[in-house]
Amino acid sequence: MEHLTFTNKNGDFTIDHPENINSLYFPLASEVGLKSAISPNLGGDAKIDQESFLIEPVSIDNLHNNRSTRNFWIKNQFGQVASLTGASARQEAQKFSDEQEESRISAGFMWQKLERQLKKPQLTATLTSFIPHNENVEIMQIDIINKSEVEQTLTPYAAIPIFGRSADNIRDHRNVTSMLHRIKTNQFGVEVCPTMSFDERGHRLNNKIYYVFGFDDKEKGPQTFYPTVESFIGEAGNFTHPAAVFKDSTGFDSQTSIDGREAMGAFRFDSFTLDVGQSKSFIILMGIEEEEKAIHNMAKKYSKLSQVRSSLVETQNYWLDKVSVGFHTKDINFDNYMKWVCFQPYLRRIFGCSFLPHHDYGRGGRGWRDLWQDCLSLLLMEPKAVRSMIINNYKGVRLDGTNATIIGQGEGEFLADRNGISRVWMDHALWPLITTKLYIDQTGDIDILTKEVSYFKDSHIKRGTAIDNLWTETYGNEQRTATNDLYTGSILEHLLIQHLTAFYEVGQHNVYRLRGADWNDALDMADENGESVAFTTAYSGNLMELASLVRLLESRTNIKSIEILEEIGLLLKSDSDIYDKINRKHHILDAYTNQCQHNTNGHKIKLSLSEIALNLIQKATWLRQHLQQNEWLDVNEAEGWYNSYYDNSGKATDGYYNGQIHMMLTGQVFTIMNYVATDEQIRKMTASADHYLYRPEIGGYRLNTDFKEIKSDLGRMFGFAYGEKENGAVFSHMTVMYANALYRRGFAKEGWKALKSLADTALKFETSRIYPGIPEYFRSDGRGVYHYLTGAASWYMLTMVTEVFGLQGKSGDLVLYPKLLAEQFDEKGIASITAPFDSKAFHITYENRKHKDFGDYVITEANCDGRNLDITDDAFVLISKTQLDQLGDAEHRITIVLN
Ligand code: G1P
Repeated sequence: MEHLTFTNKNGDFTIDHPENINSLYFPLASEVGLKSAISPNLGGDAKIDQESFLIEPVSIDNLHNNRSTRNFWIKNQFGQVASLTGASARQEAQKFSDEQEESRISAGFMWQKLERQLKKPQLTATLTSFIPHNENVEIMQIDIINKSEVEQTLTPYAAIPIFGRSADNIRDHRNVTSMLHRIKTNQFGVEVCPTMSFDERGHRLNNKIYYVFGFDDKEKGPQTFYPTVESFIGEAGNFTHPAAVFKDSTGFDSQTSIDGREAMGAFRFDSFTLDVGQSKSFIILMGIEEEEKAIHNMAKKYSKLSQVRSSLVETQNYWLDKVSVGFHTKDINFDNYMKWVCFQPYLRRIFGCSFLPHHDYGRGGRGWRDLWQDCLSLLLMEPKAVRSMIINNYKGVRLDGTNATIIGQGEGEFLADRNGISRVWMDHALWPLITTKLYIDQTGDIDILTKEVSYFKDSHIKRGTAIDNLWTETYGNEQRTATNDLYTGSILEHLLIQHLTAFYEVGQHNVYRLRGADWNDALDMADENGESVAFTTAYSGNLMELASLVRLLESRTNIKSIEILEEIGLLLKSDSDIYDKINRKHHILDAYTNQCQHNTNGHKIKLSLSEIALNLIQKATWLRQHLQQNEWLDVNEAEGWYNSYYDNSGKATDGYYNGQIHMMLTGQVFTIMNYVATDEQIRKMTASADHYLYRPEIGGYRLNTDFKEIKSDLGRMFGFAYGEKENGAVFSHMTVMYANALYRRGFAKEGWKALKSLADTALKFETSRIYPGIPEYFRSDGRGVYHYLTGAASWYMLTMVTEVFGLQGKSGDLVLYPKLLAEQFDEKGIASITAPFDSKAFHITYENRKHKDFGDYVITEANCDGRNLDITDDAFVLISKTQLDQLGDAEHRITIVLN
């Protein structure tokens, strides 16, 4: 059985015989564009974006086919041939026999090392793969040691298939697009520069050059080249049994040009002789550049082994430094696991939601909610960099409270949907406030609310229900006034519009309409009558939070009133009689959206901040009561939970139907998180979740029970097999938000149970079959799938830092309020966290010598760098912003004694 072992405290790990698990893949990427997925035998792909794939795109379902494997072959004087990656027909066949070679993978952030003990020829081969953090080149370093008892003369071949075009051409005009290839060899390798980017909507001339270069340890290039697939595999061969290697077929020289064929970065180096125990190394570079000069610079730099080695170390350190959060608990495996969880948000920033083998959808973009949630973790690790990101992201909000859904490459770049399909996700307006609130808490920068930014404009108006026929591309994507000036408003104004418009868009139960879907993308078939109770509760919490931010703005600054767009006055009606009247709500919303269809007149009115805050609180309170009174399902003395949704037929999702218990986790998460559920109700909800949803062996809390029904009146999720994706899988993101909600309400034991079962299941490599980290979900057999690119990582990290270890910002002050359980402290009663706050590094140690549980201990002593801190309350320690400002740049050590 293959085991995963951590080898240090940085998350580095090893696994023996990793090639026995077909679904393993590992991400490698630079900060400047190149992204690779690499499997244990170096399969996978490499690309800059959807249009520019260096290696043929692979999905999880063909990751094992070895067609696109980066390969390195070796042949000795006795005619013995082997693939150093194990991807030869013979070695593959031996996988199921005693003949299987020993192999081991080691990996850390953005590097992977494969070590293989070859039997024929007898060699040890090590292949190290990485992408320098600041460069678009994937480097493979190959080290070979002669392990036989005799001298060996060896002939090496590198073989990397070059796809060199858009992922769209994997099926669409695959063969035709090979005709665009212009292939050249030179003294170091193969370059492919297709003449065009093939796209029937409009072909474009291409200037990207895809290349594979190779060097031996004396910086010498190859001797013979096989620049096409045909010349490499031959008429009868294939990628795991190529003619070039097995039949010594003749290659081409270093001055060859071939047009219009499938390309191959394959070449043979000079033969060499190794004495017993002697070694030799090679370097392979694979990349994409716009100019030949850049390739030659790259070749010059990385043809030297010393440079490759130092670049690897630099890259390793770069990513280790980025992950500036670390944990020490009783369980060192968990601490190492957390390193990967904290690293994952970077992967999502780079890879988007596409570009790893499970993520074979989308074209590299990220969604609106992902954009905001990914900021959460960055805020904890690099708060300074996030300010401009937040400000710019508000430019995606439309005047009707909805937002752009196509997100461009640059910060604050939002694009109109060319296909004119409008889809409104009802949860979208929630996330900006959640992120902005965390930002203000972490930094105290309440002024950000007054920052003026533009609004997004395209043809969609009236919250996606109508088209503005006056809008054209020349108008641009920024909202204008009647006088054709750019219209801007404060971030607070953006937030008010988002939250106030949502308040009026209700369905027949006076709950916010589901529209195209909410967080659960797969609830996409109830546009007309669907309602999301779960996210209405989230909005009620947001209205309260927004009110408190408005108050904070008032108390922290001299600002007593703000100017906002006149029309918003319509939405600020404080006559609470309206709230019960669905029709009147619709009229109000209509009146508002009618007034900002094309251009706005841009008139502003002045409103006092206290008046606004009061108005928001009134709405939030009404919502809370409405939900409490109408959506609670009291089952018996011990169990009960909140309804989560109404389907398109107007029926509640949760309850007892056709002999089945229907329970959805989402409705519980947000009612708990936003104080709709009372403490007494939480006890019943957790008991019910444990009863109906908890399956520890597959990661913990399922997203829902089995409805045993294809509910075409709610969403595609009911078409998925039960236990897959949004249909009842243990969906990490929602489980983590469940944990977060429980911690916020002081239910630490219950919260930890949810977090821990996810970590335990992920680390149980025998069933999870993933490298360390949090996958999007666990299947019914405990396998982790859609690994790495999930918003769950941000939330897991956020919960560990701000709740479990209790490192919370409170409008710029630092509060330390641990909710650690006895089992999380090591034998000496210590648990600690390293994390930045206010741009300073902190190492915070909690001492719990008596091994008490959360709830039983109080804080009796606290000091920072040896100086005592005031304990204002025995549950937490507060270090004010003023005190923080006085601290120097070096790491600060805080010790807190729990008794
Ligand atoms: C994915 C999407 C996310 C969506 C979720 C549920 O989750 O990226 O936007 O809310 O599915 O449908 P993730 O991959 O973040 O776990």
